[in-house]
Amino acid sequence: MGRALGQIWLNINHEIMFGSRDPVNVLKLAKSFGPKASGGTYAEAAEFGDVVVLAVPWSSAKESIEAAGDLNGKILIDCTNAVAPHLGGLLVGHTTSAVEEIANWAEGAKVIKAFHTLGSESLSKLEFGTQKASTFICGDDLEAKSIVKQLGIDLGFDVIDVGTLKNARLTEPLAMLWIELAYNQGMGTDIAFKLLTRRKSK
Ligand SMILES: NC(=O)c1ccc[n+]([C@@H]2O[C@H](COP(=O)([O-])OP(=O)(O)OC[C@H]3O[C@@H](n4cnc5c(N)ncnc54)[C@H](OP(=O)(O)O)[C@@H]3O)[C@@H](O)[C@H]2O)c1
Repeated sequence: MGRALGQIWLNINHEIMFGSRDPVNVLKLAKSFGPKASGGTYAEAAEFGDVVVLAVPWSSAKESIEAAGDLNGKILIDCTNAVAPHLGGLLVGHTTSAVEEIANWAEGAKVIKAFHTLGSESLSKLEFGTQKASTFICGDDLEAKSIVKQLGIDLGFDVIDVGTLKNARLTEPLAMLWIELAYNQGMGTDIAFKLLTRRKSK
């Protein structure tokens, strides 16, 4: 997810630092992406970015946030899915959500849940016929959410604001539905959700 998102944003002229537990290798990889890409540790990438994307397995989310260091004031996009082993359902839900846990760990960050309800391979092809795939974003900081909304539009998404961070309790299960359909029900990964409406978009 991190690589796919970073590469698309690079193509539209954002500067990206890819963070890795292996900063030497990621720097080599980043150099192959062009002059606006760089690589470093998680802490270096977090310090570099105005917006930080958390794109690690759920089991590593807490330690990755700790490794990222001071996130105070940063916009933190969480695209993780707290999926049980063997795609066996969500590990967190109903009365909380993965992103609410993350917001507790990432002290002072403006945390936004986004981009988690479809597969990474679709990020570079979000048009399905005449329709754009929807992404459902939520968060408590309105300015941060509007920036993430624009980043989603830059990717090519139809961005749906579903309200406060607490509403990730609704969107995280939607991601699990995507995983269930793609992998367990045999529909494959070339699928996406779309919110239909008769209202003209603003
Ligand atoms: N793949 C998708 O289609 C997709 C779609 C939507 C949401 N998501 C969610 O987004 C998050 C990232 O997904 P992904 O598919 O990009 O994950 P991934 O390829 O399994 O892991 C992404 C990176 O996380 C880092 N990492 C940190 N701790 C790790 C550990 N203990 N084991 C393995 N890797 C570790 C690794 O980077 P370094 O080694 O460079 O540090 C790795 O390359 C997950 O929570 C996933 O559920 C994935």
